Order: sequence, then C-alpha cells, then structure tokens
Amino acid sequence: MKHRGFTLWFTGLSGSGKTTVSNRVHLRLQEMGVTNVEILDGEAVMRHLYDGHGFTREDVNRDTLRIGWVAHLLARNGVPSLVAAVSPFRESRDEVRSMVEHASGPGSFVEVHVDCPPEVCRERNPGGPAEDAGEPYEPPHHPEVLLKTDASTPDECAERVIEFLTEKGLVTP
Ligand SMILES: Nc1ncnc2c1ncn2[C@@H]1O[C@H](COP(=O)(O)OP(=O)(O)OP(=O)(O)O)[C@@H](O)[C@H]1O
Ligand SMILES: [Mg+2]
Repeated sequence: MKHRGFTLWFTGLSGSGKTTVSNRVHLRLQEMGVTNVEILDGEAVMRHLYDGHGFTREDVNRDTLRIGWVAHLLARNGVPSLVAAVSPFRESRDEVRSMVEHASGPGSFVEVHVDCPPEVCRERNPGGPAEDAGEPYEPPHHPEVLLKTDASTPDECAERVIEFLTEKGLVTP
C-alpha cells in the first residue's frame, strides 16, 4: 500500500503502555500492508542509542535526540518508525518534531501521549523500571493522539492510532 515516511512517537511514563500499544500498532500496520516499519524500543535502543552516562536533564535529552535522529533518517527515506521512549522532556521531543518535519514534511511527526496515572503504572510493573514512574515528566501540550491506557484496552488504543494515521493519509487502508 502507498504511504510516506513518518515517525510515530510514543511518550509516557514507564509502565504506561508504550511498548504494548506500539507492538499492536505494528501488527495492524503489517495487516494493512505497511511492512517496511522499524520499531525503536527496548534493549536494542538501550544498547546502541543510550549512552548510559547519567540521568541529568541534559543526558536524557541527548538520548531522546539520538533516537529522534535515527527516526528522521528513516522517515525521510519513506520508512515509518514506531518509537517507544519515556522521553520525559518537552524541549527534546519538540526538537525531534522539527527535525522529522523538516526532513519529511509537516504532519510526519505524530506524537502519541500514552497517559496513565503514576500509581497505576507502578502497580503494573512493581519493582521494575516503573519505580521511577513518578519522576518529573512533562506531558505534551498538543499531542496528535492522547491515549488513556487506564480506561481503554490496548487494542482500542492501537485502533485510535490507526484511525489517526488513516485520517491524515499517512497510511491508506
Ligand atoms: N490500554 C492499555 N494499553 C497498554 N498497556 C496496557 C493497557 N492496559 C493495560 N496495560 C498493561 O500495562 C503494561 C504496560 O507495560 P509496557 O511495557 O507496555 O509499558 P511501557 O510504557 O513500555 O514501559 P517502559 O517505559 O518501562 O518500557 C502491560 O502489562 C500492559 O498489559
Ligand atoms: Mg517499553
């Protein structure tokens, strides 16, 4: 199917559901014939793109920009990517937005706020990385898609994302 490159950027607290929803979106895209999709998430991103040197605001922003840089390379070559990264700070997410849109055109950066109360995130993942679920997190002011994962199922959330992509003509059913 015809589609152009874009970056689907899932941001939210640890345990909010970024990995879960993005994997479902990936499956749905494959069913729709969009098969050249990259997922930037998890172990591979940690190993290759995070420098692990520290957790200052500057360090975290630098990690966010590295993932964004890869996503923008993919997008400008017509490859959609699904990024699942806490990416807590607005300034670096906004910088990635500019980078992607500069390379692939307006509307090619789709910010998905995976929203869930910190106490629910912590319950979902006790003892895991979600112990930092109450860390400073700056929610997007105007995300393209807002998902409340404590109030809808993963499938419903994924469907909302697919509807948005279809409405905007980023994918064609
Ligand atoms: N609507 C929903 N969307 C996504 N996940 C949900 C939803 N409802 C319940 N969950 C559950 O919440 C958990 C979310 O975990 P997940 O690993 O996807 O979070 P994450 O945001 O990727 O965290 P991390 O930043 O630590 O990688 C899963 O166990 C999932 O089954
Ligand atoms: Mg995850």
